Amino acid sequence: MDSVSFADLAPYERYKLLCATIVPRPIALVTTLGADGTVNAAPYSFFNVFSEEPALIVLGLQHKPDHSPKDTTRNIARSGQFVVNLVDEALAEAMNVCAIDCPPDVSEVEAAGLSLKEGVEIPVPHIAQAPFALECRREVSLAFGPQRELLVGEVLRLHARPGLLDGERLRIDEKAYRPVGRLFGDSYARQGDRFTLTRPSYAEFVRARDA
Ligand SMILES: Cc1cc2nc3c(=O)[nH]c(=O)nc-3n(C[C@H](O)[C@H](O)[C@H](O)COP(=O)(O)O)c2cc1C
Repeated sequence: MDSVSFADLAPYERYKLLCATIVPRPIALVTTLGADGTVNAAPYSFFNVFSEEPALIVLGLQHKPDHSPKDTTRNIARSGQFVVNLVDEALAEAMNVCAIDCPPDVSEVEAAGLSLKEGVEIPVPHIAQAPFALECRREVSLAFGPQRELLVGEVLRLHARPGLLDGERLRIDEKAYRPVGRLFGDSYARQGDRFTLTRPSYAEFVRARDA
């Protein structure tokens, strides 16, 4: 059987197939502020860029099995503010510690041995060790049933770890930036083998095809 109807699948089976095929996914290590000022950090790989005008990113926030929102979801619902810290090879293990289900008054940032830098546009700090951090404000949040939320956030500012961004020419040092992607379950991918594909115009494509 080489094809499967999603109508015949249980939610967990759909999750398995979607998460094993849509890979690698970038990882957002999201920092937020709790009501008591605790800095919360948690990884989310249902994450991507959506557009540049306005500059929007999207996050898929799933509730806990008991249907209660995760700390990240609760904090963003209250303040509308969050930071997406990107995850590279050096940050991967600490990111995994941040996925532990700590109680709301325990900071994953401390547990993971990470340090924080103050925000500029919003009061939410970002992770000093992150290669890049995006200060964001909630644009809109859509609920899909009692368990899931699609969060769209506007990016207000980008921070880079020293040595990664040429701020004059707005260039990222691709050799120095070593992002990791999430595969399925506990598997992750490094970017070990990049290659270039030049996109031809239609005229160039036809010329090359008919040569
Ligand atoms: C690499 C990775 C990616 C994850 N992606 C998601 C995700 O996209 N959505 C989600 O709801 N949980 C995701 N999780 C699980 C949350 O990180 C985990 O439930 C965490 O404890 C939530 O923390 P919080 O309650 O502090 O927000 C992911 C975990 C890992 C390790």
